[in-house]
Amino acid sequence: MQGTQRILTIFGTRPEAIKLFPLVHALAGDSRFVSGVCVTAQHRGMLDQVLQISGVVPDHDLDLMQPDQTLDTLTANLLTGIGKVLDQEKPDWVVVQGDTATAMCGALAAYYRKIPVAHVEAGLRSGNIHHPWPEEVNRKIIGSFAALHCAPTETSARALIAENVDPATVHVTGNTVIDALQWITARIAADPVLASGLADLETRFAGRRIIGVTSHRRENFGEGMRAIAEAIRRIAARPDVAVIYPVHLNPNVRSVMQEQLAGLDNVALIEPLDYPHFARLIGLSYLMLTDSGGVQEEAPALGKPVLVMRETTERPEGVEAGTARLVGTDADRIVAETFRLLDDEAAYAAMARAHNPFGDGHSAQRIVDLLAARG
Ligand code: UD1
Ligand code: UDP
Repeated sequence: MQGTQRILTIFGTRPEAIKLFPLVHALAGDSRFVSGVCVTAQHRGMLDQVLQISGVVPDHDLDLMQPDQTLDTLTANLLTGIGKVLDQEKPDWVVVQGDTATAMCGALAAYYRKIPVAHVEAGLRSGNIHHPWPEEVNRKIIGSFAALHCAPTETSARALIAENVDPATVHVTGNTVIDALQWITARIAADPVLASGLADLETRFAGRRIIGVTSHRRENFGEGMRAIAEAIRRIAARPDVAVIYPVHLNPNVRSVMQEQLAGLDNVALIEPLDYPHFARLIGLSYLMLTDSGGVQEEAPALGKPVLVMRETTERPEGVEAGTARLVGTDADRIVAETFRLLDDEAAYAAMARAHNPFGDGHSAQRIVDLLAARG
């Protein structure tokens, strides 16, 4: 079609799929674009959960995931696999999101072909290349050559400009995660059965305060994961709480959690939840304990305190607003901060405020308009 831009959106993991489906929906409904989707399936099962609920049907599926994949094999396969798709599709723009291996390789493969890259969720920086690892470097690589930087907040926009990125290419769009969360919340409201699968756990844990947990960061493998498991074991020893923990499919996470937490009465180690059920879990939870990026954005938006089991965060907005708190991966500290929220009503009330520095639910449309303006 003449006068239309050919956009290829590339993603491969659960969080990228969640944060990009609103954009794929918006592009598909806009006659200014011919929109294609390439999934790498860096994640297989967890990606498919999001494709299913969002209705996104990929044009290309590289099906790359290998069990316990290494960063070098993954990177090599991504780069060559995506390169072939770009040679076939020859898009006018490539869109990537965040800081995964898929995002970095998608952007790099485009750069090698002089195809401009739009980076969604640009400018997040922890200032530490080892936390999160390897994401801090992945996003810096993309930031060094993207032609359009869609920064979720003013803080992330400033971080890019401090790195000498051309300010004309940096735009504050908000984070598409809020678009996704609003979309899924509306779907659940229209069709509650979409998120009704936790009913048995809700009955089993009635009367207890639920703590929702996720963890998966590579830099926490080994000692960090064991400390997180120990903290959960100690927290779950209280009779007034229950833990619901959808365990990431990464074997480095599952082996530790199975070994240390399986069989505890008030800990439910469950399979990864699809997005509606995870949104429901946040809603049910008294607080969230997580090392996830996305959950740091979603929990404050839903008014839930979030204790971040990481040494640094590239999302200072939640911490500054008082709805998120960095607690690291020391078991004593995680337990102490959790008990403080369980036992100190004022401390809890100060954190449990719906607060949304990350977006207003219209980020995808802003990004679409920015792409359209670039012709
Ligand atoms: C990846 C991203 C990380 C992101 C996270 C979101 C990189 C380097 N890391 O980390 O930035 O925060 O996804 O969850 O890009 N697995 C499955 N099925 C799945 C998904 C994973 O079995 O659906 C298992 C596989 O054994 C796989 C392993 O998990 O090899 C690791 O997956 P990988 O994408 O390399 O790392 P994550 O830790 O998931
Ligand atoms: N999520 C989900 N099911 C789960 C756990 C998380 O749908 O069982 C969603 C969550 O709502 C968030 C995203 O997955 O949008 C976060 O993914 P993850 O923590 O794996 O990656 P990160 O955000 O740290 O890159």
